[in-house]
Amino acid sequence: MHNIINIAEDLYWVGGNDRRIKLFENLFPLENGMAYNSYVILDQKTILLDGVDSAIKNQFLENISYLLQDRKLDYVIINHMEPDHCSVFFDLMILYPEIKFIGNKKTIELLRQFYRNIPLENTIVIKENDTFSTGKHNFTFYMAPMVHWPETMVTYDNYNKVIFSADAFGSFGALNGNIFHDMIDDKEQYLSEARRYYTNIVGKYGAQTLNLIKKLETLEVNMICPLHGVVWRENLTEIIDKYRLWAAYEPEENSVVVAYGSVYGNTEVIAEKIAFGLSKRGVKNIKVFDVSTTHYSYILSEIFKKSHVVLASCTYSNDLFMNMEVLLKDTIAHSMANRKFAIVENGSWAPQSGKLMKALVSIMKNTEIIGPVITVKSTGSCETECEIETLCDNIYASLSN
Ligand code: FEO
Repeated sequence: MHNIINIAEDLYWVGGNDRRIKLFENLFPLENGMAYNSYVILDQKTILLDGVDSAIKNQFLENISYLLQDRKLDYVIINHMEPDHCSVFFDLMILYPEIKFIGNKKTIELLRQFYRNIPLENTIVIKENDTFSTGKHNFTFYMAPMVHWPETMVTYDNYNKVIFSADAFGSFGALNGNIFHDMIDDKEQYLSEARRYYTNIVGKYGAQTLNLIKKLETLEVNMICPLHGVVWRENLTEIIDKYRLWAAYEPEENSVVVAYGSVYGNTEVIAEKIAFGLSKRGVKNIKVFDVSTTHYSYILSEIFKKSHVVLASCTYSNDLFMNMEVLLKDTIAHSMANRKFAIVENGSWAPQSGKLMKALVSIMKNTEIIGPVITVKSTGSCETECEIETLCDNIYASLSN
């Protein structure tokens, strides 16, 4: 059975949800599945903008054949050549053998690496600022390399003033019937997963994302159609402004993430005490995470959101506790910058974690360590209590500046 929605003149959403998937890219936990958006414009020629993951192939193909009836599919614009959007293309070719795939040089190269049965004569190569018409609708292509892959681009429909934004402005999570952002009341919850999606999937490429935003600023945009998550048709600046901050590695709020790695709970107690100490001083919206029980993708997302980070970790086998190391290396890998850190190390006979965390933090641009660095041997002492008070004062002072 088909399931499509007409979202603008001639424009139809033909995507679907996969609620069985537990890990996006076999890496990122999903609590509520994943949406794969795909769009068709019925003009003098028919054109599809991006495909879907093979997990929802049957729904997608039913949507396409219902919408087209006895028309053929003339063109497919590939804004992003990742298999979660392209693994249905060969099936489409079987149904519509004359179809032409439109993409930049890199897109077509990747298309034929992944799907070697797609002939070159079924492809059209375009480049930055090229235009393409299906009759009433004229499309302009803007390259957006590394937002998320090197071939990524976005397409602007000059008639409807819609931007098909590929991975940009997307989110984790299945759609719940309400395809438009303005139909969701719980905007904080949606933003939280949109943030986790951006920071983990595209977050490394802030400069490239800012370049894309600059290009979009030159266009009149009425609607953003991403490949995941909801469609934006109102208050577009809400998401664009968040992207500006995230891409510039600027925090959204002055507050603190406390991330701890603890084997026996003694480092955990100190992390909790710091969080409570900050709260007593008036710091709001503190987030505390155990790096062993919360997937690093959630913690990274909060580090993008907040200005200050407290890292508290035990030493393990004369090295940094593995899950803390994973979090920090992932944070570095996503080009994090402009944050203030505080460090607590624990080690019963040879504390090493402080030195190792400091070294990792120093790799990030424009970071600062707020002292004192607290060293604990097994459990906190009276001296530790005094150091925690001083650290909380110093973090609070830094937050207030
Ligand atoms: Fe949704 Fe980068 O693919």
